[in-house]
Amino acid sequence: MKVKFISNIEIEKPNNLLKIAKSARVKIKDSCDGKGKCGKCIVKVLEGTVSKPTKQEKKLLGEDKLSKGYRLACEVEVMDNAIIKLVNK
Ligand code: FES
Repeated sequence: MKVKFISNIEIEKPNNLLKIAKSARVKIKDSCDGKGKCGKCIVKVLEGTVSKPTKQEKKLLGEDKLSKGYRLACEVEVMDNAIIKLVNK
């Protein structure tokens, strides 16, 4: 059985996804404190306009995962409405 929670938050744009999650009290693992080094803050961008992948994301996730929408929350700037799936719990 699965239960899906959906929550909306209004933000200033653009804004860092990990900071948005923290302000919304959505728990995303961040072992390196948002420095783009641990890869723990992985999320999946299902819809929306976000920044292009950074060097750290390319290094930690690779082109295959990036092409499927996986991103590092600490590296992503949200530019407009977005739907984000939490991957690590
Ligand atoms: S918090 Fe470590 S890579 Fe994002």
